[in-house]
Amino acid sequence: MTTKIGILLSGRGSNFLALHGAMERGDVPAHIALVVSNVAEAAGLEKARALRLPTVCIPHRLEPSREAHEAKVLEALRHAGVEWVCLAGYMRLLSASFIAEYPQRILNIHPALLPSFPGLEGQAQAVEYGVKVSGCTVHLVDEGLDSGSIIVQHVVPLRDGDTAESLSARILAEEHKAYPEALNLLLTQRWNIVGRRVVYS
Ligand code: GAR
Repeated sequence: MTTKIGILLSGRGSNFLALHGAMERGDVPAHIALVVSNVAEAAGLEKARALRLPTVCIPHRLEPSREAHEAKVLEALRHAGVEWVCLAGYMRLLSASFIAEYPQRILNIHPALLPSFPGLEGQAQAVEYGVKVSGCTVHLVDEGLDSGSIIVQHVVPLRDGDTAESLSARILAEEHKAYPEALNLLLTQRWNIVGRRVVYS
């Protein structure tokens, strides 16, 4: 049996689809046990349903607190037997107690070369700053904002005249390769964390 993955998403879900495709092709020894969204209208949720994957929508707006919302998400993940969590455009910060339930077993993808341009709209931040290269980062999730140990980064050069939209499209194409690559690395290699670095043995 391959590793059970829980996907958390809030929107379009293209990274979720890229992960799912890689698993279906046998490129990553894992399968999706549950897709959770905090947004009822998320296109990613519809895509998961169309693939007949188990889904659950847990809208944060209906919960009295962050803790109450996270408790429900955790219960759904546990019930599905999820071993690793992949954030795929999940637009909520996770609390320390949530992260403690999956220590070094939560991955996130960010559309910039961290530690540059964390937070929202990493692509627009890169265009506005005028950097010559940006890209995407897959990292383990810690309590900080996009601050966990880095697993994979793909570089995307900026072009003259790039807008946030044109850069986003080229970064997204790299995200779809980087995320399966990073998950596969962590599932198939022996590794541990030294300081903030992931060291493979
Ligand atoms: C992706 O570009 C991802 O890197 C970004 O949201 C998009 C989700 O797209 N995530 C963040 O900005 C997290 N800070 P998707 O729903 O098509 O995968």
